[in-house]
Amino acid sequence: MKGIKVVGGIPLTGEVRIQGSKNAALPLMAAALLNKGTTILHGCPKIADVFVMEKILQLLGAKTVWKNHTLEINTEFLEKIQVDEKEGRKMRSSIILLGSLLGRFQEGIVPHPGGCVIGKRPIDLHLEALKQMGAEISETKGQIFAKTKGLKGCFIHFPFVSVGATQNALLASVLAEGTTILNGCSKEPEVCTLCKFLKKAGAEIKGVGSSQLVIKGVERLQDVEFQVPRDRIAAGTYLYASAITRGEGILLDAPIDEMGAVLQAYKKIGGQYTCNSGKLTLCSFYADRPMEHLQTQVYPGFPTDLQSVFMAVLTVAKGESRITENIFEDRFKTVPQLQAMGAKIELEGNTARILPGYLKGAEVIASELRGGAALLVAGLAAQGETYVKNCNYIERGYENICRDLSMLGAQIFRD
Ligand code: UD1
Repeated sequence: MKGIKVVGGIPLTGEVRIQGSKNAALPLMAAALLNKGTTILHGCPKIADVFVMEKILQLLGAKTVWKNHTLEINTEFLEKIQVDEKEGRKMRSSIILLGSLLGRFQEGIVPHPGGCVIGKRPIDLHLEALKQMGAEISETKGQIFAKTKGLKGCFIHFPFVSVGATQNALLASVLAEGTTILNGCSKEPEVCTLCKFLKKAGAEIKGVGSSQLVIKGVERLQDVEFQVPRDRIAAGTYLYASAITRGEGILLDAPIDEMGAVLQAYKKIGGQYTCNSGKLTLCSFYADRPMEHLQTQVYPGFPTDLQSVFMAVLTVAKGESRITENIFEDRFKTVPQLQAMGAKIELEGNTARILPGYLKGAEVIASELRGGAALLVAGLAAQGETYVKNCNYIERGYENICRDLSMLGAQIFRD
């Protein structure tokens, strides 16, 4: 079991460049299947989940080449329509390959997706949307089989916002016959990025950034070169790392426009910042105030992905805070680990009450990606040393969190 050691009590200062976005890159890689040709992604993060997706594409018959952070994917000679079961189960994003496979081959098989253990995470909205477009779907032994005589545009209403289901339906619709209207779509930046990418590849999409996307099917897509945006969640993690240490720090290439609610929360607890063309300069000397009530919401609200990291910050605030998790019911999995570090947190349903206190170094275990990052952030403010076991979870989404936090002056070491 690999782990990361953090020495607590050092106020951060220094500069770090923000990596490419995991949640943007994975759907773009899935979208590469739609074009019988070459897709070039610049600024692609070198993280475990991207490598899993790369492996899946390779096993389908794609050729891939890395040059620094540029990933080239050639899908000209794809042979298979079945996503490898072992790889596919490793992450939830594999489900969106179904939309791409149906779009390109009218057929696809994917395993029921895995991913971080943060609640039920059903896929009913994904499958329902694909069915409405004319796919026949069945499930046996944990594998999802989808087939169509040809996808047809239609009106699809999502009863509530799902990032993945919006992306899946979008991928299925770009090569479908006729016009698809997706209503109740997610407006998360990663959906906008996918739309921009598909448009660059020749898709016809209107309403980008709104809750209604109108997609007019085209015959084929073309080769495309695209810049993966920077990771708003990694940027938020380092922002809150600065906050918990009452330090400073400069985040280079932070996607500030996508960080509204995240920066607002930072300001509310006393953090100060200036931004200048992608350079976010932080002053966290007074970031010690509590947060009366933070609620996770769909974008542009506060992201569920940063809930546990922000909770870590609130455990050392000078007053009582509350957080309500509205997206995933199991996103409080890290609470017992934070409690083992001395945090005073009381849970009632989907709301956490965080009382003022101190953190002390401990040996703790990461059980999912962002929760694992939250433990490292907590370790930065703890008295003594913290050791976070199972750091492979953290590496699913952070390219090199030890390098990045070291750039900000932290003493952090991986086994
Ligand atoms: C979610 C987050 C996304 C985050 C990602 C990784 C939201 C809206 N989405 O995206 O920001 O980056 O996790 O942690 O915050 N649901 C269903 N049926 C479905 C699909 C989803 O009931 O078919 C429910 C989920 O249980 C959840 C909600 O819808 O309560 C949002 O899920 P969804 O956006 O699909 O999850 P991800 O795409 O994984």
